[in-house]
Amino acid sequence: MKIDGKDTHTIWVESDGQSIGIIDQTLLPHRFATARLKILADAARAIKTMQVRGAPLIGAAAAYGVWLALREDASDENLERACTTLLSTRPTAINLKWALDEMLAAVRNRPRGERAEAALCRAGEIADEDVAINQAIGRHGLKLIEDVAARKKGERVNVLTHCNAGWLATVDWGTATAPIYMAHDKGLPVHVFADETRPRNQGASLTAWELGHHGVPHTVVPDNTGGHLMQHGMVDMVIVGTDRVTAQGDVCNKIGTYLKALAAHDNNVPFYVALPSPTIDFTLVDGLTEIPIEQRGSEEVATMTGKTKDGRIETVRIIPDGSPVANYGFDVTPARLVTGLITERGVLKAERAALAKAFPERAGNSLQSRAKVGS
Ligand code: MRU
Repeated sequence: MKIDGKDTHTIWVESDGQSIGIIDQTLLPHRFATARLKILADAARAIKTMQVRGAPLIGAAAAYGVWLALREDASDENLERACTTLLSTRPTAINLKWALDEMLAAVRNRPRGERAEAALCRAGEIADEDVAINQAIGRHGLKLIEDVAARKKGERVNVLTHCNAGWLATVDWGTATAPIYMAHDKGLPVHVFADETRPRNQGASLTAWELGHHGVPHTVVPDNTGGHLMQHGMVDMVIVGTDRVTAQGDVCNKIGTYLKALAAHDNNVPFYVALPSPTIDFTLVDGLTEIPIEQRGSEEVATMTGKTKDGRIETVRIIPDGSPVANYGFDVTPARLVTGLITERGVLKAERAALAKAFPERAGNSLQSRAKVGS
């Protein structure tokens, strides 16, 4: 995506060829700043503190993290330690484990002296593949928006999205946003309702920021507004991203997504989930009982960070001192509430047969998961 006219990815190899550059997403929307990752610990911290976040970008950052580790020490012990350290950063997005398995497969059987170079090569491929996959998701999702636009005869097409599944959550283009950017670039009258997405406000701070930069009409809404908008026919479709989809099509995404799916179902609003195939976990079936749900610190709920009238960035407490907090990061939408899965290989039914048919090489492999990270 373009930032001030310059093509920008969310992660890159710095010109020194020895470190990784990222956009520090904890400072958005009020400050655009980059950060440099030089060692494994930097990469792990960037994922855990959410300087980088979003399932596909977490995967890419972890892949580069393995390279940073092997640059320092390419031994088997250090390779295993690096993968274990990165895997322990966040539990829900399966792209993290997928990327580490890919890195292990790319370097494990190589002589030590070749490992760092092989790791950099595979990490770069993972980043480039992510961009190409999201563009394919964009093309398949664009058709869905075009169909609504044709039906509405030029009236604007209203898409509601939750959290940030935009280019900031990937290497470029985004998943849920790719069809939206392509529709906008094609001149279609698309408008986005962006859920603020408490408690970290990825919708209000990141989705609104990137849509604004691209000139896409959008409206930030409190999380509790979507149902009302749907009841009044103001939403033509919902498109969200996901952190993990099971073999039967259950979808895990940012907390609050399930409630949007219920409202969409009750109001006959199509509910689409955009995902790259690395986000499919064919080793799991029942999302509700099998997907690990991250719980994060209470300060994310108890405080809010924003910009003061004189431009200072301040964090304030918004709940009474001493009140306990529960902060679940994700929830699961059962497959029965999903209209379709927008993947790089087309729009699929959220069901086992459709997923296995579209990705036979992944579905077939799920049984041989013994020799992989964290198995
Ligand atoms: O906690 P986050 O910000 O990493 O959560 C991100 C989401 O839930 C996204 O919707 C998901 O990772 C898909 S990103 C293309």
